[in-house]
Amino acid sequence: MCGIVAYIGPKDATPFLLEGLARLEYRGYDSAGVAVTGRTGGLKVRKVKGRVADLAAVVPARFKGTTGIGHTRWATHGVPSDANAHPHLDGAMGVPPAEGGGRIAVVHNGIIENADELRAKLAADGAVFRSETDTEVLAHLIAAHAAEGAELEDAVRAALGKVVGTYGIAVVDAEQPDRIVVARNGSPIVLGIGEKEMFAASDVSALVRYTRQVVHLEDGELATVRADGFRTFTEDARTTHRQPSTVDWEIDSYDTGGYEHYLLKEIHEQPGSVERTLSGRLDERFATAHLGGLNLDARELREIRRVKILGCGSAYYAGEMGAQLIEELARIPAHSEPASEFRYRNPVIEADTLYVAVSQSGETYDTLAAVQEIKRKGGRVLGVVNTVGSAIARECDGGIYLHAGPEISVASTKAFTSTVVAFALLALHFGRIHDLSPADGRRIVAGLKALPGQIREILDQSEAIAELAAGYADSEGMMFIGRVRGYPVAREGAQKLKEISYVHAEAYPASELKHGPLALISPELPTVALVPDDELLDKNLTTLGEIKARSGRVVAIAHRRPEAKLADHCILVPKSEPELDPLLLNIPLQLLAYHAAVALKRDVDKPRNLAKSVTVE
Ligand code: F6R
Repeated sequence: MCGIVAYIGPKDATPFLLEGLARLEYRGYDSAGVAVTGRTGGLKVRKVKGRVADLAAVVPARFKGTTGIGHTRWATHGVPSDANAHPHLDGAMGVPPAEGGGRIAVVHNGIIENADELRAKLAADGAVFRSETDTEVLAHLIAAHAAEGAELEDAVRAALGKVVGTYGIAVVDAEQPDRIVVARNGSPIVLGIGEKEMFAASDVSALVRYTRQVVHLEDGELATVRADGFRTFTEDARTTHRQPSTVDWEIDSYDTGGYEHYLLKEIHEQPGSVERTLSGRLDERFATAHLGGLNLDARELREIRRVKILGCGSAYYAGEMGAQLIEELARIPAHSEPASEFRYRNPVIEADTLYVAVSQSGETYDTLAAVQEIKRKGGRVLGVVNTVGSAIARECDGGIYLHAGPEISVASTKAFTSTVVAFALLALHFGRIHDLSPADGRRIVAGLKALPGQIREILDQSEAIAELAAGYADSEGMMFIGRVRGYPVAREGAQKLKEISYVHAEAYPASELKHGPLALISPELPTVALVPDDELLDKNLTTLGEIKARSGRVVAIAHRRPEAKLADHCILVPKSEPELDPLLLNIPLQLLAYHAAVALKRDVDKPRNLAKSVTVE
């Protein structure tokens, strides 16, 4: 999704802007641009369809300024093109303002919903539009107020007062080069505090090389950023007082660390990220989990009759695994639903239901909107979130941070696993308040503690899985099947394969195969089957027999190798407790998808058409 960077200080802004944009590449984008200004006046702007490297290639050495903004765009209004790339100006590029050139430059994440209406009014007043974007409307609106002599912050506030929609923006004015104005409404903006210099970005990953001191703006908040500090205020000009926080993620978390791709690195980081999710949260004495951030005591938890989990994509599938864990361990009805659907169906909000929002980024707009809808109706929401201080984390009444570390690759792997571990902790905590016996509690605690070592055992099979993946990568599609606990694993496995390898993949409950999809089975459509050694093993083996009888090829992910006549290949996974098995069964599927994508020479970390955090509707 779109990315924003901004710099003001004594140095040349351009190197920071280009490096910051490169740091945001992982979010997915199709064009990039920068604008700088400074004491010498005037705006310098370069923008291109393509990569940040393409932008850097057209930025000349004389492109200097002490105040600058940059952007990576993911097209929403208008095709990817040089003209539609940000920054957008109120006048022509490369021409002095007095001769019809722009003085205001704006970069914007989000969507202005009333852009068409505003554009028509501005055009009637003589504004000339040079792009198809909604953002250009903002540049003209701000310029109209600035032309009347308004301070930049007042011009931005006045312009935003006319706008309906979501935005994270950064604005520079060639006539007021001593400041950058940023604003947030539904799309993140973080300020970075340096030594006599200041930064801003849509994501801390662009800032961590320069500063660890950050301020996350709230929705409806703006900031004037100068080289020597910042001032935050509301849309009606009331000053707000924000204390900086310290980013604790390590700088090398943002590098590939010698791996060929971030995705492979993040898959291999899982023993450590799971350890961090568990760290300090297991209580062996009472065979339970401590989750300090829930902000709910045992009495309040006992009053909960239902759990509803909301998330999008892989976060929703992790929620499905979470729902099963809660039902099994706490015997409380639990259900996961896509947040993107929930928010549009006028949901009934119940006082005795606990709502749980799941998000790696903490910025997914659909999930945030679902949280806001629940809270507006008086519901109680917990967040299971990776990014500290993110919008969803701040909107929730309490929650569990994953501590998985930054996830750069677009496809979620380590955050997915840590989310399920967090749900296991929640289910254990809930269970032990209800009727889960101390013996079962101890069983789950031991199972959780063993996970990092067991994940390592699976990762050791990476090379063998690569060979297997290469043999299946040119299939016309793949079927993923699992029963009950295995079904969300199948769904996540199919999601991972399709998003990074572009091989069509479908997930079905194994029990449903004979009710329709069995018609698809042929040697061209192999099946990946989750076959844990649990109470449903015999049923799963029968399903494998049905597939083999139709000449289907089978890859079994299993605790014990099925008979050769039932599976062409098998990836063995160490056994955990039955409730925790899905966590481990999922790891080979990550490797399978990764190696299939590599075999097909896909852009593994930045799959086509996708973005890391989807901050628009
Ligand atoms: C899949 C994937 C997406 C995200 C989804 C939610 O690999 O990464 O499906 O899981 O867009 O993102 P978050 O968790 O940031 O809310």
